[in-house]
Amino acid sequence: MTFDARAFRQALGSFPTGVAVVTAAPPEQHPLGITVNSFTSVSLDPPLVLWCLDRRSDRYHTFTKAPGYTISVLGTAHENVSSRLAKQGAHHLEGIELLPTELGPPALADALAIFECAAEAAHEGGDHAILVGRVLRFAMREAGAPLVFFRGRYGALAASSG
Ligand SMILES: Cc1cc2nc3c(=O)[nH]c(=O)nc-3n(C[C@H](O)[C@H](O)[C@H](O)COP(=O)(O)O)c2cc1C
Repeated sequence: MTFDARAFRQALGSFPTGVAVVTAAPPEQHPLGITVNSFTSVSLDPPLVLWCLDRRSDRYHTFTKAPGYTISVLGTAHENVSSRLAKQGAHHLEGIELLPTELGPPALADALAIFECAAEAAHEGGDHAILVGRVLRFAMREAGAPLVFFRGRYGALAASSG
């Protein structure tokens, strides 16, 4: 059986997701970030989340070696930031509005939610690594519309008809 990788990728894109930026603060370097839509919750007790990182990413070693990272859930106003941090090699955070965090890696200002994580585990996941983070601190704001990713495009939630 032939497996059409491009069609597979397109089919996966039919699952709408939110978008997040994961930041790390490597020692003696500027903090950096990456746009991800693989973020998901794993466990409430203990509080665990995960995201998946492409092994080919320039940022692979930084994130897999990081003792922790911060996950910022993006709103519709973050679309440009999301596009920028999804560009190959464009990792730095200069010019992006940031919030300092207690554990180190900065969060994005106006994020809908912020999860400060300690690296808990890294699992093999084919051409990606599955990075599990233990949430040590978190914050959320009530207001704000989530940035949505669906079939390769950004969008927003439609207003509820109910
Ligand atoms: C909406 C969106 C979601 C993405 N989600 C992921 C993801 O979950 N994991 C990942 O490794 N890359 C993801 N990417 C790709 C990375 O943001 C980035 O483009 C890729 O790592 C290539 O850059 P690099 O080699 O400089 O790291 C996503 C890109 C976009 C636009």
